[in-house]
Amino acid sequence: MPHSSPSDNRTEMNIELPPVYIRGTGSYAPAKVVTNDDLAKFVDTSDEWIFTRTGIRSRRFVSAGETTSFMAIESARRAMAAAKVSPDAIDLVIVATITPDMPFPSTACLVQHGLGLGPITAFDIQAACSGFLYALRIGTNMIRSGDFKHALVIGAETMSSVLDFRDRSTCVLFGDGAGAVVLSSEESAEATGKILGTLCGADGSNPSLLCVPGGGSACPASVDSIEARQHFLKMNGREIFKVAVRAMEQCSRDILQRCGRSAGELDCVIPHQANMRIIDAIASRLDLPPERFFNNLEHYGNTSAASIPIALDEAVQAGRLKNDDLLLLVGFGAGLTWAASLIEWNL
Ligand code: UT7
Repeated sequence: MPHSSPSDNRTEMNIELPPVYIRGTGSYAPAKVVTNDDLAKFVDTSDEWIFTRTGIRSRRFVSAGETTSFMAIESARRAMAAAKVSPDAIDLVIVATITPDMPFPSTACLVQHGLGLGPITAFDIQAACSGFLYALRIGTNMIRSGDFKHALVIGAETMSSVLDFRDRSTCVLFGDGAGAVVLSSEESAEATGKILGTLCGADGSNPSLLCVPGGGSACPASVDSIEARQHFLKMNGREIFKVAVRAMEQCSRDILQRCGRSAGELDCVIPHQANMRIIDAIASRLDLPPERFFNNLEHYGNTSAASIPIALDEAVQAGRLKNDDLLLLVGFGAGLTWAASLIEWNL
């Protein structure tokens, strides 16, 4: 696996950079719950197969009127309320998504308008399931530049819009939802997470391992592309599984080393929620008890870029994070991409 590129509190010249904090979290899940048994009514599968192979029992799917921007807006409202930051203080919006409302304009622009924000900087980034952590790194460094004070960093996905319900090997795995954080240059009286460092990496040598082949310049939409089901997600699950375990383990070790910490010091790990067997394998490789991991995969499936911020918000709501806790966020996705962030939690 290629090296991840570093980002932490220090430059090469060992100059301390300004700290950046997660000041509040929020999430949104559509009300519609789809259980494994619901899927088994029209796909050749079973609750037993899905749960034992993945750890998923149910997922949420959008209903009419719920889009990626709608969920992003709701999660952002909750994050701003938790952070006690008003919309007029937000000066940056970054949305990580592979399922935008439309190819363009960006979902971030729809969020900017939907929240009634001023004419601020707003854009999408795309790094599949690693997208939220890529966005966190971008947002952190944009705040450190001094140009921005309060950023909304959002992961939002309508994965049901790209699922092929004739492909049982993928359609049972994914769900919809959104999670958001307010990143800030200012610490608050509320719970805050100080970002100690974030690493990101990519290897584009085998893009077809996990992709939606149609709809871009390589395969524009046509009658043929639709008939060939090219606008749906395709995945080589077995290969992705192996690389996911290796990449998330290595990335976790890299960020810990970069920040001068060890795996044993971790109080909580929030991994990308794709498969319990992947999560268990990472716990075992890092020699950490499974209880250190916070998971909600059972109820949401894999929500791609939304999975880590939804789980982070639920961990905060559940009181799972204590003062001085060392928290690791780690993800992996199509590209291939991977990323990890180390955070010190203060209450
Ligand atoms: O977020 C991005 C990262 N994505 C991931 O992390 C996904 C990584 N991969 C995985 O999680 C796993 O590889 C899967 C859950 C996708 C599949 O688990 P697996 O243990 O690798 O199963 P498999 O693909 O090797 O398939 C085993 C069997 C096959 O039947 P045969 O060929 O052994 O007769 C499949 O046809 O299971 C069959 N199968 C199913 N059976 C019932 C595949 N999907 C299903 C299904 N229900 N939904």
